Amino acid sequence: MCKLLAFSGSLRQHSYNHSIVVAASEGARAAGCKVTIVHLNDFKAPLFSEEDEAVSGIPDGAKKLKTLMMEHDGFLIATPEYNSSYSAALKNAIDWASRMEDGEKPLQAFKGKTAVIMAASPGALGGIRALAALRTLLANIGMYVHPAQQAIGKVSGLVDTSGKVVDEATLKKLHALGKQSVTYTNALKNG
Ligand code: FNR
Repeated sequence: MCKLLAFSGSLRQHSYNHSIVVAASEGARAAGCKVTIVHLNDFKAPLFSEEDEAVSGIPDGAKKLKTLMMEHDGFLIATPEYNSSYSAALKNAIDWASRMEDGEKPLQAFKGKTAVIMAASPGALGGIRALAALRTLLANIGMYVHPAQQAIGKVSGLVDTSGKVVDEATLKKLHALGKQSVTYTNALKNG
């Protein structure tokens, strides 16, 4: 069975991006994949610095996330758009997870794995510019980024107070994206 790791690049407890990655995960689960949903808040690490790394190694939070990433076949990622790009929290998590330790292959947490990307924003464009930047980053570290993606605009009207996506059309799009991630990951896994 394929295994996907799902997370958003927001540290906000009531993150819209967390809401949409949960909805996409429902689609992936319905298509037969095991999906683990995590929150970056649970893997906090200081801003990446080569000097700090040389002294103290990879911080515990970052190491735990890297280990989880290594155990999965692909990722479902939803990023907030801040000033036209993906979040610093997401970039920091990727930077730490990209660091190689003894016995590991370069970029082992990412290389040859799939990614399906999405974004949500209260703005009309839904974070589409962040997705363009994120797609480039992930491809450059060896990931297969699915051509399909979702940028969900005006998201505040599509989610209820508990954080659940309640708009039917949006749910349909996100469930379909989750399903596509399973087809893509299985195709890659099974050669
Ligand atoms: C934003 N926001 C934003 N939205 C957008 O569509 N394009 C953008 O460039 C920006 N830039 C931006 C910069 C900063 C500093 C903040 C704080 C916010 C709005 C942002 O999309 C919104 O706060 C989302 O709700 C954040 O995602 P989460 O935390 O809800 O997942």
